[in-house]
Amino acid sequence: MVEVSTSILSVKKGEESKTFFALEKAKTDYFHIDVMDGNFVEKDTYQKMLEYSSYIKRISNLPLDVHLMVNDIKKAVDDFIAVDPNIITFHLEACKNEEEVFENIKYIKENNCKVGISVKPNTNIEEVYKYLPYIHMCLVMTVEPGKGGQNYLSEMTEKVSRLKKYIDENNIEIDIEVDGGINLRTAEEVKKAGANILVAGTAILNAVDYKVIIDELKS
Ligand code: DX5
Ligand code: ZN
Repeated sequence: MVEVSTSILSVKKGEESKTFFALEKAKTDYFHIDVMDGNFVEKDTYQKMLEYSSYIKRISNLPLDVHLMVNDIKKAVDDFIAVDPNIITFHLEACKNEEEVFENIKYIKENNCKVGISVKPNTNIEEVYKYLPYIHMCLVMTVEPGKGGQNYLSEMTEKVSRLKKYIDENNIEIDIEVDGGINLRTAEEVKKAGANILVAGTAILNAVDYKVIIDELKS
């Protein structure tokens, strides 16, 4: 069944707590925490996301889905493990070799946290296959990482179907999360392709009723 992870990246200034309470009430399945270091991607949301995460932990029991868009993965894991996330996902493109990827997987698991790997639009999905048996989720970016409110890249639908086909053929138990430009229209095609966790920021935060949009995205 499909779950929704609401990205809090574009939460309106001054409306943070109101928004987080409303999302808790609307029963988002996860809060999606977009951690950007100003190096791997241009924006720097690092401190803000740390603050938001600890605030959310105080007011909600809903799980945190941490998406690291950073170069220094180990440091970010150390910082964000403090907010007891449900899963920490890092970017394949931030690792210089296979050994570093496996080291990061091990490090996150040693911190008693689930681990995900994310791939940018231009990264071939085949590059992540060898890691799939060791992780809990593959995050297929459906926009170039770095900011919210972008349009869904339709060629990513085929990438999700290829990943889904591979995990089914190889009996790999793993979640497929998609992130970027997900709304009621694009959610249909990406669910059909095999995604079971949808990240949405703008589509939800701009909605009048969070519960309605979250339920519609899942249906
Ligand atoms: C982009 C982030 C996404 C983004 C999603 O780098 O990883 O999570 O905030 O926002 P929307 O749903 O507005 O594309
Ligand atoms: Zn994200």
